[in-house]
Amino acid sequence: MCEYCGKRIQVKIQRPVIRLAKNFNMNLETPNPSQEVMCTCSGTKRDYIQVLFAQGMDIQAISRWTGALSGCGGCEWDIADFLKELAEQ
Ligand code: FES
Repeated sequence: MCEYCGKRIQVKIQRPVIRLAKNFNMNLETPNPSQEVMCTCSGTKRDYIQVLFAQGMDIQAISRWTGALSGCGGCEWDIADFLKELAEQ
């Protein structure tokens, strides 16, 4: 499964990419979680969503402002869960 859009990745593609990354000592983890791209379609990062939420934007406003959720829609639940987490803090 793609960690960003939730879509299933074909194993034929995934394994060679992971092997290639390991051969070049690439770290597949995001070094800074706040810099994680939550919406790959728009490139919207976690920390930017947090800033917009702190400014009072809801999920629809964040979508209109950033373009998140307006592509494949695969990030919808991740962003909704993240906003729920922020609201509970
Ligand atoms: S990942 Fe496609 S719309 Fe966000």
